[in-house]
Amino acid sequence: MAARINTSLHNALSLLNAFNTPLNYKPFTCRNCFRFSKKLPYYSQSSSGKRALYCTYSSQESTVDGADTFVLTTPLYYVNAPPHMGSAYTTIAADSIARFQRLLGKKVIFITGTDEHGEKIATSAAANGRNPPEHCDIISQSYRTLWKDLDIAYDKFIRTTDPKHEAIVKEFYARVFANGDIYRADYEGLYCVNCEEYKDEKELLENNCCPVHQMPCVARKEDNYFFALSKYQKPLEDILAQNPRFVQPSYRLNEVQSWIKSGLRDFSISRALVDWGIPVPDDDKQTIYVWFDALLGYISALTEDNKQQNLETAVSLGWPASLHLIGKDILRFHAVYWPAMLMSAGLNLPKMVFGHGFLTKDGMKMGKSLGNTLEPFELVQKFGPDAVRYFFLREVEFGNDGDYSEDRFIKIVNAHLANTIGNLLNRTLGLLKKNCESTLVEDSTVAAEGVPLKDTVEKLVEKAQTNYENLSLSSACEAVLEIGNAGNTYMDQRAPWFLFKQGGVSAEEAAKDLVIILEVMRVIAVALSPIAPCLSLRIYSQLGYSVDQFNSITWSDTKWGGLKGGQVMEQASPVFARIELNPEKEEEEKKPKVGKKTGKVKVKVVEQTPTVAEA
Ligand code: MSP
Repeated sequence: MAARINTSLHNALSLLNAFNTPLNYKPFTCRNCFRFSKKLPYYSQSSSGKRALYCTYSSQESTVDGADTFVLTTPLYYVNAPPHMGSAYTTIAADSIARFQRLLGKKVIFITGTDEHGEKIATSAAANGRNPPEHCDIISQSYRTLWKDLDIAYDKFIRTTDPKHEAIVKEFYARVFANGDIYRADYEGLYCVNCEEYKDEKELLENNCCPVHQMPCVARKEDNYFFALSKYQKPLEDILAQNPRFVQPSYRLNEVQSWIKSGLRDFSISRALVDWGIPVPDDDKQTIYVWFDALLGYISALTEDNKQQNLETAVSLGWPASLHLIGKDILRFHAVYWPAMLMSAGLNLPKMVFGHGFLTKDGMKMGKSLGNTLEPFELVQKFGPDAVRYFFLREVEFGNDGDYSEDRFIKIVNAHLANTIGNLLNRTLGLLKKNCESTLVEDSTVAAEGVPLKDTVEKLVEKAQTNYENLSLSSACEAVLEIGNAGNTYMDQRAPWFLFKQGGVSAEEAAKDLVIILEVMRVIAVALSPIAPCLSLRIYSQLGYSVDQFNSITWSDTKWGGLKGGQVMEQASPVFARIELNPEKEEEEKKPKVGKKTGKVKVKVVEQTPTVAEA
């Protein structure tokens, strides 16, 4: 069935809107804020003699929108079911980026939340024998609980059922309406309830199956309100041409450009058949389409609770967002629909939309609708937040898809966190206790004079910083791990345990070596803190710092020279529990295999003892 919009001429609203279009309507895109404007532009003369168009808002950018504020968002998660590892993935990445930006000294507003309206949610509430509000409360809470378990430090959690959100959605709708971009028409097409989206027949698989959810779409015919997306085709093309960094990673830009080029069609922004939603202003027989509603959560989240809310105040508190972090499946909503909606309402566009890949299981997107999910609560309980955060950020190149396997998980976290990082700290503190009463003999700056390891560390810190800035989180982890590798190599080459045994000048050199290696550990703790905050805190504490001192670190603390002579270190104790197969499983593994494996992986803290030579 071909999707069909039928705008009847007798439709009063559509006529009204046609007349509402201002006669002097000569839209242009501001060169400064990329905002679509219908106000009178002003011009600036560039050195090349070309005149650039700027909108009249440009000089009125809100102060929080300056270089020192970083507003980032995760998608607002559907509450049809509790979170799975795929939903946790975006949030872990966002949290690491937020933590890095805080280390740079930015005022960060990290927004997350839950998307609670629409048919999909109403259906899942009914399937669970609950009414929608009760269902939303339970599932929304399960997201908050998981974020706590995963050490997610968000600043704002918005629920689309919050009254303050509803007020903003209605005001926004009214603005778009007043701008002549909403009209009424019939719609006939194929609908995927899981995507909450009408689909083009050409993008569907056999039997009209949705390619993401592998379930047949249903034929629908409705009388809806439409948003005039087609009107924004040219402005969107211009924005992407002028600001190609708007869509990241860069390879996703082509996809977005080709959607736009293939022709933008108006889309329906209300539902006649769905009760569970925000009523359309002036027509309570329809509710606002869940996507039109939820995207506004990025703005309503900025408002403060218990204060009078309106769009203007919300915007002044931090809009536009610096970064929308999303999965690639919802790129069209964020890179096409959302910017057009914002232009229509006369608001700034977000600075960047980053579409990451999927966590897959057997090559299929892990998801609630397909039922092939990985339980994040179980994973965190078993392995702890640092291991989970580190594994997914290190293992999956941010932007690409990545598969999970427990074997790989254990191998990576044991090798990187327990061995390269944890064991190096443990060995060094053990030697320091035995030979220097756990006290540093001199400042790390003095100890490292003429030692090439210091330069190596400085270069790797720069590499980590660049990668964090470019959102190449896996490469950032890799750079930090390389610092650990360099520290281990230094330890093995210098063999301080041997030098201590020699005594005299050699022992003095060995004591300096320990200062150098512990300084390496300190730098690692700072540089790894966006990815594995608890592990970093444990390292920092063992280096003799307080929790408050850890909480006030900045990226400038990655600079060599933090540790001072006379500083007393804590007793060595493992900062990262090595994951061991339990003994029964190990026995089981040794036996010839008959039937199914039953053994379970257990976490066991394995003492990170010094080598025989060091003891
Ligand atoms: N409610 C909408 C978003 C509205 S934003 C205004 C939605 N929710 S969702 O719960 O279905 O998905 C939320 C995010 O989780 C999306 O970015 C999606 O890509 C991501 N993921 C869901 N499954 C995923 C994987 N298996 N792997 C990685 N991310 C995945 O869409």
